Amino acid sequence: MIVVNFKTYREATGYKAVNLARVCKRVMEDTGVRIVAVPQVADLRDCVETGAECWVQHVDPVVQGKNTGWITVEDVEEAGAMGAILNHSEHKLDRKILEKTMAVISGMAFQACVCADSPEEAVNCAYLKPNYIAYEPPEFIGSTDKSVSSERPEVIEKVVKTVSYPVLVGAGVHSAEDVKTAVRLGAKGILVASDIDLADVPESNLRKLAEGFI
Ligand code: G3P
Repeated sequence: MIVVNFKTYREATGYKAVNLARVCKRVMEDTGVRIVAVPQVADLRDCVETGAECWVQHVDPVVQGKNTGWITVEDVEEAGAMGAILNHSEHKLDRKILEKTMAVISGMAFQACVCADSPEEAVNCAYLKPNYIAYEPPEFIGSTDKSVSSERPEVIEKVVKTVSYPVLVGAGVHSAEDVKTAVRLGAKGILVASDIDLADVPESNLRKLAEGFI
């Protein structure tokens, strides 16, 4: 499974987000590897229309009603999102907020991928019962020559062994070798952004990463 986080990159915004979602769908169909597109909320509905599985990058613990300026799970679900990333190191959540958000999501057919910066945080997130726990060491996010797989293989192994939920890993992933290492150590999949979002030819990079699962 490959989760492509579009972040707020200009290269993955607006019509470019839609093109990227199309790429995700095409590569998934051709390779059989599950690929999830994670655009910004404003691009969500258009990305969903491509037929790609889409998540959002965040939701707030707010239900529908007299609230202004929040992202509700109900709204993004209605727009076609099938899940959300929560607590990403670029959007850290206070523990109480994270708990409230998970309480809103629980009982819904909506997937939650809770991110952790460290093995300790990964273990501390397990009681939230997310669908996925994503381990991403922040120091390698956006790196082009170091990745979670090359620099922290022992931590991947540790997180997979300690946490009883499917584990995703991310940060600096940029090769099929990175993917193979993560999968060999027990990760269910990877999160990736810059290697795809900023690529000259995102489709060719995504196909290379997908090869790591085949
Ligand atoms: O959510 C995935 C992301 O933080 C990893 O970013 O650019 O290192 O692939 P990147």
